[in-house]
Amino acid sequence: MHSTALLFFTSPLALALTLPPRAEPCDAARQWTIPNVDYSSQITYSTPAHMATSRASIEFTYTSSTNSETSSCTGYSTGQQDSGAFFAFPNPTGCTEAPGSATVSTFSYTGPTKNLNINETFTCEGNTYLAAASTQLALQCKETVYNNPNWTTPGDIYSAKTVACEPLSVILTPHIFKLG
Ligand SMILES: *[C@@H]1O[C@H](CO)[C@@H](O)[C@H](O)[C@H]1NC(C)=O
Ligand SMILES: *[C@@H]1O[C@H](CO)[C@@H](O)[C@H](O)[C@H]1NC(C)=O
Repeated sequence: MHSTALLFFTSPLALALTLPPRAEPCDAARQWTIPNVDYSSQITYSTPAHMATSRASIEFTYTSSTNSETSSCTGYSTGQQDSGAFFAFPNPTGCTEAPGSATVSTFSYTGPTKNLNINETFTCEGNTYLAAASTQLALQCKETVYNNPNWTTPGDIYSAKTVACEPLSVILTPHIFKLG
């Protein structure tokens, strides 16, 4: 009688019900939610030969499921004559972290492949970790070309190429690496 009762109260089930919930391990699986990737570009000419502006931007935030912190990331690319030539090479760029956050995030975007790469380093229980995710963005974009039918004056817009994309949401599952 007595030994049966003892077994019951020390069973794993009883322990699970009485102990406080355990903190998540440092390398716990997590998701990064990106509600909106915003990509656009503009190229304008003020004469047939003079490019007046040439600029593309990619902008997004992502929120981690482990700590609900949001990082804000923005990248620019300039100086291209073709809409498809922006962000020719990956260029690691820092993101802005949530106030008081101990994480450091960088991202890179490669235009020709539409590849987005995000790295986040963080410390946990005295160790440094890297969470890294990479994806090909399924951006649906439209290029609009405008030619001024009646251009005479340098300073007026001679022509413009504008790219605008549908809002895109993405969920990433980063791989976690212990760096030391
Ligand atoms: C992410 O980390 C890997 C490995 O250190 C590095 O090769 C890559 O350039 C990094 N990318 C970014 C966007 O920081
Ligand atoms: C172009 O400019 C001329 C002179 O200002 C004007 O008469 C003509 O209607 C304009 N054409 C167009 C397509 O705007």
